[in-house]
Amino acid sequence: MLRSVSLFLCVIVCLVQGCKQAVDAEKDNSTALSLYTEPFRPQYHFTPPEKWMNDPNGLVYHQGIYHLFYQYYPDDIVWGPMHWGHATSVDMLHWENKPIALYPDENGLIFSGSAVIDHKNTSGLGTADTVPLVAIFTYHDMDKEKAGGTDYQTQGIAYSLDNGESFEVYEGNPVLLNTEFKDFRDPKVFWDEDSRKWVMALVAGDHLRLYSSDNLIDWDYMSRFGSGQGAHGGVWECPDLFELAVAGTDETKWVLLISINPGAPNGGSGTQYFIGDFDGTTFTSDQKEARWLDWGTDNYAGVTYNEVPDGERIFIGWMSNWTYARDTPTEVWRSAMTLPRTLSLAKINDSYTLLNYPLSGISDLIKEDINLDLDIAPNSYEAIVMENGNQSSIHFTCPLAKFSLSLTNDSGEELVIELDSEEELLVLDRSKSGLVDFQEMFANIQQMPLDNLPEGDLEFDVFLDASSVEVFVNKGQYVMTAQIFPTMPFSDLKIRNEGVESIKINRLKVNSVSGIWE
Ligand code: FRU
Repeated sequence: MLRSVSLFLCVIVCLVQGCKQAVDAEKDNSTALSLYTEPFRPQYHFTPPEKWMNDPNGLVYHQGIYHLFYQYYPDDIVWGPMHWGHATSVDMLHWENKPIALYPDENGLIFSGSAVIDHKNTSGLGTADTVPLVAIFTYHDMDKEKAGGTDYQTQGIAYSLDNGESFEVYEGNPVLLNTEFKDFRDPKVFWDEDSRKWVMALVAGDHLRLYSSDNLIDWDYMSRFGSGQGAHGGVWECPDLFELAVAGTDETKWVLLISINPGAPNGGSGTQYFIGDFDGTTFTSDQKEARWLDWGTDNYAGVTYNEVPDGERIFIGWMSNWTYARDTPTEVWRSAMTLPRTLSLAKINDSYTLLNYPLSGISDLIKEDINLDLDIAPNSYEAIVMENGNQSSIHFTCPLAKFSLSLTNDSGEELVIELDSEEELLVLDRSKSGLVDFQEMFANIQQMPLDNLPEGDLEFDVFLDASSVEVFVNKGQYVMTAQIFPTMPFSDLKIRNEGVESIKINRLKVNSVSGIWE
């Protein structure tokens, strides 16, 4: 009797549970369906399903998977106690959202950092048959910060033995203490094959510090760089250091990326770069002036992948700006990543130049709608109907001339990109591009000096998504990335000749870009 009662209860419980699971699944599904279709939701740029995101973190490739961890606050759409959110991809274009990877713990919040694959198990955190994926990040201790000291940012590590599915926090954390600097953060770690050791690039207020380690746990100070060089309008953040071949030569140079906030050329946050040399201990560069990876207002805290199989250097940035990041008009999630971009180095008119240009794989998302050559007379324009204006790319070549691209929609909103050959400037005007008045600086007109153009025609690529525009000149020699919030798709493209001679716009392609969440 007892047995059959418990059997009966068991059946009831199972039925109720089954029913609950079905309801939960349905709920999950309906949430999933409504996500990624909201107003302003980017369709081919990474965004978290919901809540606040800032910097990309822990970019690493391992066993067929590209990891994208990111600064994440799961409880609100403004910055809060930082976690590492997580997504994975096999091509860096289509992403699968994963559970949160790292949570704040007794050492503090989890700020930005990097990830490495410890192939030789130097850390001892792996097992006989599993190499560990090791995340290295900054702990930010709020209580110590409130106490007013300078010891509240330290570095910690966590490791994963299942390719990022789950992490163990290292029990000896923090691995790098600090009592000297209020700002002491954002470790980028890589294996330096020449010196056969781990190198950590870290920023401390106005400079870069380099540390080395045999095991990712014990770190020794090596050198510093940068006080008095480059831009210093704000503290230095999110360093990255790597070697690149100079195109067309057998020379290589080292590149240092440094984000600063504020102090960028068009206001607020921006990323500068230095080109120099690294001898295993010290980075040197005789560059005194700031050079900018991107002149637009919305490419910050970007860093590159470790371990990309063919040695390519691939960069992802956070497509926002601390000046208004908290104010942008989205409700479910806040902010997106840039397109993944391949970095390369070229000597242009004798000057080493860092180029950044969308990953070649992006062409798989592109469907050609229009392909034509135009000859536009002075004071006139050509108009083109855009099929998919909030999800499209525009490509063409042209001489250095005076003309503008104007994108408009039926709400009278307009985004203007203007090439000014007299001033040698590219101007991006988003002041009437949609919602702009949520913050004062957002409507500012952005400018990029084209001060080192090579001979010949210019090549343009423009990528438009629901809330961003990315402009690439000469395959990434000059770049502007900006958020925009048009309330309807742009449907009309006008190319207006503002000069005195006619202009040939060659191989104009206006393409649709497929969504990555479909
Ligand atoms: C850059 C930054 C980093 C820091 C993180 C905190 O945007 O300020 O320096 O680690 O964001 O979320």
